[in-house]
Amino acid sequence: MPGGVRIPGHGAGRVLWARVTAASVGPVSDGNERYLHGHTSAVLQAHSARTVETSFGYGLHLLRPGLDVLDLGCGPGSITVGIAGRVAPGRVLAVDRDAGVLATAGTAARQAGLTNVEFAAMDAYHLDVPDDSFDLAHAHQVLQHLADPVAALVELARVTRPGGVIAARDSDYAGWIWHPADPLLDRWLELYRTLARAAGGEPDAGRRLLAWAHAAGLRDVRASSSTWTYSAGAGAEWWGGLWAERILSSGVAEQAIGTGAATRDELHAISQAWLAWAGHPDAWLAIPHGEILATVP
Ligand SMILES: C[S@@+](CC[C@H](N)C(=O)[O-])C[C@H]1O[C@@H](n2cnc3c(N)ncnc32)[C@H](O)[C@@H]1O
Repeated sequence: MPGGVRIPGHGAGRVLWARVTAASVGPVSDGNERYLHGHTSAVLQAHSARTVETSFGYGLHLLRPGLDVLDLGCGPGSITVGIAGRVAPGRVLAVDRDAGVLATAGTAARQAGLTNVEFAAMDAYHLDVPDDSFDLAHAHQVLQHLADPVAALVELARVTRPGGVIAARDSDYAGWIWHPADPLLDRWLELYRTLARAAGGEPDAGRRLLAWAHAAGLRDVRASSSTWTYSAGAGAEWWGGLWAERILSSGVAEQAIGTGAATRDELHAISQAWLAWAGHPDAWLAIPHGEILATVP
């Protein structure tokens, strides 16, 4: 099997990434939830740029050789790869509901020469693994997309060993701040938050992570926050360019048009506004994130 090892004891019937096909992933979530972004090229470019340093700084001190880790909603796997490198020979099971993106993640792991990662198509609410399987369960930018993040945290607690940690980080869209101001970017934010909620998620998730953990019965929770900052000459061109594309070709664009929330002309205007921002010599944007490290009793 290229690029991965089967993790003993994680249950029969799981699909290895090398064998995952779109058809193998059935309807696993309830019907009220849909992953809004999809996995178009611009979305994957944005997600693939993430690293364990940019996205898991709050939990880096926990990573040590020998840990068994679950990465829920691994996407294209760039964070997974960083985690796996640090915990080897510990084992990492990276799961996502989307079969296509698992194949991309498998390639990333293969290219990194990792042999301690397995990828499997699974749903956050019904992980096909026994109780107490992992020392660490990690979910980056996943809970915000779930209709029932508390149920997902309960499921993560089930598969995490007593004394193990659940780590989650999510952005908080209502907290985004940028300069220069542009009414079309305000409209973009309003539109995104409306569509995310219509898809069953909660775009302002960062501020809610602690509350969700408490609702899941987790009491020993360390909450923190951190930001991503993009500015002229330091990421603004990249980030603005990607959103200029994402607002025209991604699940967000499809939903905006399909639901009548925006017209194609309006999306084009928003796209141009992102490009104008990206090219502005004073462009600056900060994206706040909530983070939790919850110790499982
Ligand atoms: C924003 S991406 C984050 C990917 C990766 N963790 C990162 O930060 O780069 C969210 C991922 O969660 C996955 N996802 C959404 N709902 C899910 C569910 N119910 N069960 C498993 N994965 C899910 C999506 O397919 C997507 O790949």
